[in-house]
Amino acid sequence: MVSRVIPVEEFDLVIFGGTGDLARRKILPGLFRRFLSGQMPSGSRIIGAARSDLDTDGYRQMIRAAIAEFGGVEKSDTKIEEFLAQLHYIPVDAKGEAGWKELHDLIRFEVVNAFYFSVAPSLFGDLAERLHTFNIADNDSRVVVEKPFGRDLATAQELNDTLAEHFNETQIYRIDHYLGKETVQNLMAVRFGNMLFEPLWNNHYVDHIQITVAETVGVGGRGAYYDKSGAMRDMVQNHLMQLLCLIAMEAPSQFDADAVRDEKLKVIRALQGVEPHHIVRGQYDAKGDKASYRQDAEDPKSFTESFIALRCEIANWRWAGVPFYMRTGKKLKARSSEITVVFKDLGHSIFPGDEKRHRNILSIQLQPNEGIQLQVTIKEPGPGGMRLIDVPLDMTFADALGLDADDSPDAYERLIMDVMRGNQTLFMRGDEVEAAWAWTDPIIEGWKARSDVPKLYDQGSSGPEDAMALMHREDRRWRDIKE
Ligand code: BG6
Repeated sequence: MVSRVIPVEEFDLVIFGGTGDLARRKILPGLFRRFLSGQMPSGSRIIGAARSDLDTDGYRQMIRAAIAEFGGVEKSDTKIEEFLAQLHYIPVDAKGEAGWKELHDLIRFEVVNAFYFSVAPSLFGDLAERLHTFNIADNDSRVVVEKPFGRDLATAQELNDTLAEHFNETQIYRIDHYLGKETVQNLMAVRFGNMLFEPLWNNHYVDHIQITVAETVGVGGRGAYYDKSGAMRDMVQNHLMQLLCLIAMEAPSQFDADAVRDEKLKVIRALQGVEPHHIVRGQYDAKGDKASYRQDAEDPKSFTESFIALRCEIANWRWAGVPFYMRTGKKLKARSSEITVVFKDLGHSIFPGDEKRHRNILSIQLQPNEGIQLQVTIKEPGPGGMRLIDVPLDMTFADALGLDADDSPDAYERLIMDVMRGNQTLFMRGDEVEAAWAWTDPIIEGWKARSDVPKLYDQGSSGPEDAMALMHREDRRWRDIKE
């Protein structure tokens, strides 16, 4: 099955930080794939802007190399030349005067224009201000900003205020790349496109919900950034929070940006504080010649967590009393992101001798093998009476839909095209980000006040033992982490 391409209007996209890691690894290769699919209109231009003293030719060489390394597409010389011809470069000083006049002269106001701030948040204010002083942005321009969006509520508010001085909320696109993932959007389709689940989707039928985002990579290479964040700020406050919202929110009245984001916001605001004994933090230990977290972070005394598991509750009519368990970590046994809804036990079994606990479990795999499994209880085939067993109804999307991984745009491609279309549904609104920090801050402050020390865990494991105990204490267990 080949994905359908919805055309976007001709655009000028300026990437501040256009020579940076994100631009070379994700943004430009992603745009190239959109170009190959025919979605990027031929008159559109991508303008790299950064401090480096490059010219357009030099920039094209740099991006050619980046696409070869990170593009994930068959090499296609003629196509790549056509794409590179749409690239320009202007050296710009974010804090000074250099380059802004040239940028102004290059930008076309008659087409969609967007400015991607792929730079440190400390520069957002300078960029926004200069875009206005030099009359480069107007009321129809769009700005795209990356995470981390602040490191706590106060800094997120500052960023929001800074952006609000120059742009309306309808012009601001805050990226959480998890929202651009195909299966994350599928969560909404499964929930709100089927009759089957909705009647059961509440505290009468659901025992608990698990969200796992397990990674095999460590923090090597980005230790300095990561050590100031940790798993709570890097993953839970944004990616896992978004998954939680999509799984727990009420149905929006329609699938539009504000209706969806209003419902997500209500979930975040209804999240209860987390008790200290409902949080487990971990750090991966050294293993053979593999560095420990502290070695990767280059801080032998670091207390930053590379793993976190926690239990939280949502105080509303639908979910009161249902625990939501979330965990994420680096250097775990497999790369696997999964959401699992575990339904309650039957109140009474009519089958004599059947003492085993049978539970329906709906599990949605987000990556790497997207699909859905529903565990149902059936009669074990053959003679021997009514013996019951649990079996999975298994649907891997790739098999069921005949998908080829290359057909489906990756998260960044999809999100950038949404910016060009002016669709904010899959972007975080300012109040949503602030509410997420308002929930996160006391948790982080709590463990600082308690001088909490992360537990060590083995690389290639499922995290610290205490994370298992978090569930076992309540007679529950995590799903196995497996690809
Ligand atoms: C990023 C985090 O936002 O998401 C990284 O900063 C993490 O630490 C990454 O590795 C995970 O994204 P994905 O798409 O690989 O699941």
